[in-house]
This record gives sequence, C-alpha cells and structure tokens, in this order.
Amino acid sequence: MCGIVGYLGDNKASDIILSGLEKLEYRGYDSCGICLYNQSDQSFVTYKDKGRVEHLVHDFDYDINNHLAIGHTRWATHGKPNQTNSHPHFSLSKRFSIVHNGVIENYKELVSKFIPNTIFISETDTEVIANLIELFTETLSVDEAIRKTLSLIEGSYALLIIDTLSPNIIYAAKNKSPLLIGIRKEGITLASDLMALIGHADTYYPIEDKTFTKVEKIGNKYISEMFDIIGKPVQFVPLEMNMVLEEIGKGGYSHYMLKEICEQPSVIRKIMSKYLIEDQFTISPKITQMISAAKRIYIIAAGTSMHAGFVGKYYFENIANIPTEVFIASEFAYNMPLLVDNPLFIFISQSGETADLRTCLVNVKQLNYPTLTITNVATSTLAREADQFIEIYAGPEIAVASTKAYVGQVAILSILAYVVSSKKSFDLKLELSKVAIAMEAIIDKREYIHRLVQEKITKKSCFYIGRGLDYYTCLEAALKLKEISYIQTEGFAAGELKHGTIALIEDGIPVVAIISQKIINKNTRSNIREVLSRGANVLVISLNNVSDVTDEIVLVDVHEILSPLLTVIPTQLIAFYSALDLNKDIDKPRNLAKSVTVE
Ligand code: M6R
Repeated sequence: MCGIVGYLGDNKASDIILSGLEKLEYRGYDSCGICLYNQSDQSFVTYKDKGRVEHLVHDFDYDINNHLAIGHTRWATHGKPNQTNSHPHFSLSKRFSIVHNGVIENYKELVSKFIPNTIFISETDTEVIANLIELFTETLSVDEAIRKTLSLIEGSYALLIIDTLSPNIIYAAKNKSPLLIGIRKEGITLASDLMALIGHADTYYPIEDKTFTKVEKIGNKYISEMFDIIGKPVQFVPLEMNMVLEEIGKGGYSHYMLKEICEQPSVIRKIMSKYLIEDQFTISPKITQMISAAKRIYIIAAGTSMHAGFVGKYYFENIANIPTEVFIASEFAYNMPLLVDNPLFIFISQSGETADLRTCLVNVKQLNYPTLTITNVATSTLAREADQFIEIYAGPEIAVASTKAYVGQVAILSILAYVVSSKKSFDLKLELSKVAIAMEAIIDKREYIHRLVQEKITKKSCFYIGRGLDYYTCLEAALKLKEISYIQTEGFAAGELKHGTIALIEDGIPVVAIISQKIINKNTRSNIREVLSRGANVLVISLNNVSDVTDEIVLVDVHEILSPLLTVIPTQLIAFYSALDLNKDIDKPRNLAKSVTVE
C-alpha cells in the first residue's frame, strides 16, 4: 500500500514523479505529495494534500527547474488522510525529507528511547524515521545515520530519503515493502512498482530487504550502489525492462475494470500458449515433483486470490487426488494448524506483495517446508522468496477489483492439478479453449447484463447462492459487488441459507443463484424456490445443460470442472454495472488499495 517514486537525473523530476504517482495510484489514493529541489534558487519545495494525484498535478506550480524529487501516494495507516499526514515528512529542522510505504511497528518505543522530547507535526510513524536520522547525524555521517536507523526500526518499509544539504543524492531502503531502482544513462528512477519505471529505465533491479541504496550524481554520471546494513556493497544483476506503456492504458475502455473483464478470454489463451509445449501442458519438473511429493497441499491467500484457492482445492482433490486445505493468510500467519508430514505450501497472490502472505511464507520457510507462489508479478517479493514460482501472465491488472488475475489463477491451478494427475479423464487444452470462446459470448452480451442489473439489483443488499464450485464463485461474486458498489452482499452455500440467513429474505431482496453442476441442480433449484416464496427477486446464472427456461443468464456449456472460469464473468459484469449506475469510483473504490503491503 502507498506508492512511492523518486528521480535524480537530467529530465524534469516533477514530470516523472507525477506521471509515476498516477500509475501507482492503485496502491493508495487518499492523499499524496511531492518534495522537489528547485535548482534555480537552490531550495526545496513541498506540495502535499488530501486527495488524488490529479489534485497534485493540477493545483500546484511546477514551473521550476528541478531534477531531483521524491513523491508519494498514500493509503492511511497512522492518522487520517489529511494534508498534515500526507507524505513527504520532515525531520524537526527540516533537513531530511522522507516518503515511506509500510508500517514501523516499534515507533513508539523508538520515540521514548531516543527522541522523547521531539514535537511531531503529523500522526504518522514516518516522521520518527526522519527524526532518528537527524539525531544520529549529530555524531555520524548521513550514510551511517541511515544505517543505524534501519538497524533499529522494525516492520515494513520502502523509504526514499533526501538530505537537503546534499541535493545530488537520494537514499533508498526497504524491508518487506517493494522498491525498484530503474536505470538509464540520463537518470535514475526509484519506485514501488515497475509501472512507474516505464519509459524512464532500460534496466532495473529490486532493492533487497534490509539494504540501502544510494543514488548519486557524480560528475555527469548517475550512479546507484546498494549496501547492506553494515555498509558492505551488495552486488546486483540488472534486469531488462520488458513492460510497455500500452499494457497499462485503458485501451479505449471507460474503466480499467471493464477492460480487464474483457481481456479474460485472451488471458486464458495467453496462459495456454505459455504452458503448452508441443501440445502438452508443461510445467517445470521442480514444480511438478513438489506437488506430486505432497501428502497435503496448504493453499494460503487473501480476498479474491483465496477464492481462486478454493477452486484450486477442488482441482487438486478431484483431478490430482491430493488432499488440500485453504487458509486465510492473516489467520494462518498467527494460528498455524497442525500440519501433516510432507506438506506443500502454495501462496496465491495477484500482486505477490500481500503482507499477510509474506508473513506466512517466512514462517513456513523457517520450518523448511517447500513453497510455491502463483503470482501475476514475476519480480514480486513472494515470487522471489518462495522456492518456486509460477506466473499467471494476466498482464498488469490496474483496477483494484481483481478480475482477470482471478481467472488466470484458476486456470493455472487447473493446469497444475492436471499435469500431476495420473489419469487424464478430459483434454484440458480443448476444454480451456472452449472456456475462452464461452467467455467471449457472455462478454459480448454485457449490455443485456446491464439491463438485468437495472431490473434486479437494488441498492439495499444482495445475496449470491450456489453449491459446490458455484458456492466458491458466489463468494467471489459477493466480494466483487460489495467492494466496488458498496452494496452489502453475501455469498452463501445455498443449502445453508435456511439455517438462519433466510430470515433476511423479504420482498424485493435480490438473490443471484449460480448453477453449473448437474449434481447440485435440483437442490439449488429448491433453494431458489424457498427464497422466491419469501419475496426475493431472483436472477439465475446457469450453464446451458442445467438451465431452465426461466433462467436469466444461460452460459454456453463448458466442462463442469472449469465452470468457475465462466460463471464468474457475469458476476463481474453485475458488479461493474451496479457500481456504474451508482456512480461509484469503480477502479479505485473507497478505503481500498490494490497491493495490501501492511498486515
Ligand atoms: O495481490 P493479492 O492477490 O495477494 O491480493 C489479495 C487481496 O487483497 C485481493 O484479492 C482483494 O481482495 C481484491 N481487491 C479483490 O478484488
């Protein structure tokens, strides 16, 4: 959470920071700020305020000759989103200016031990870092003061630090929160995500945990060096920048979410092209051996990725015959269950940066268990730190509500279970191709779904009901609707409704039922009758071969086991159009951020 960008180079720094912050706004968008060095009068200027980057871009004057700057877009953890709490923050004398992504867990202890008399301007933990550095520079060099501060702070951080006495240097440090250094001859860009480096870097490297990097102009050259906590240089191998601007545009769509929904058939096809070799799904033998050797798989994830995990459990158990359990990452982190021998831990994460998952990964690695990450971001922390990782290839997902990454995760899970299964009872390649075509058919009918939303979905509340695989889709559908439209929505196992929740069903309450499997068709239909007779306004999504003439959304038949890839599409469109008609900020819903890098 929070996006940070820094620049030192020949170009106008404020342009690079502001366009970078706009690209990183998905990480947090309740306030933002920039601190830049005005080369003409050799002073530092700071603009910051509550609100979006748009406000920062339009409402301040950047007609300043500037080549060094740091900026921040915030998702509040300590203190309200207001101008005072916005980053950058300063040390008391204003010598050090800092932007920070993460949470310093021991900031209160550090204040009472080292700076009990300091008056803080904001409510943030970040100001403590700036003041500690300032304190330590009374006796140490700036490099040493930063290293000493890093050795004391506990928690997660990606930091950019400016010493106003040295306007040719940016210091950067990180622990747990991501931070990348983009290199180009004419300047160096620092950012929490690759997206902000597009167009400004030929190569890049991720800063390692508990190291710090000094970006400096020496003569006409821009140099970046990484050091460990005792000041020893750390070697790094620069990686090629392979992301292009088109990948992160809206491509003619009104919203990223709609674009990403519509991209899902191509995500399925891309995944197939990446993992099919000579017509056979082929996964690294290290990964297949790991899965085959597991007595039990533990899937750990959060939010939408966890819903993909539930489908994955079904796949590992029903296709590959491996018992599998799914855990909420934030629960597993501090309540580890009794494990069997020979477990395999699979971490599913679109961003690969979710802090709750990372805590679990660290815990599991300490126990020496094998770990595999399924992620959309190959350079992410979870990809780097697990024993193995497998890429989703969904392309950058910008809307906070996850759509194409979810179907990518489910498709990858189906491939993993399929490749390790001893008896292949169906042709996955053929069936996934059918899914892509069936997805297109429903996406083409999206205006019809918009009309159904206007007819059926009210503002008050909504229920999704289904059984088996459809229940997992209901959980995902409910999360999607509530997170972007703010309509209170629950996903329920259809049979469970009558054990209490049916008490909430009254005249006009929307209930969306999903039916894709023959085995549950009859029972879910009885549950539909139960809610209908209590006045619910029912909308049924079914696969053709289990459909009824009265069903509103009938989908082209696909293999039952792959139905979650298809049934989820109309639910994403229901969420999108509900939010659109309610005039909500679809791509950046309130209180949320795309990458949840705090626990
Ligand atoms: O990046 P991750 O997949 O680890 O993120 C997990 C959740 O934060 C994420 O899926 C969240 O629930 C989405 N906003 C759902 O649309």
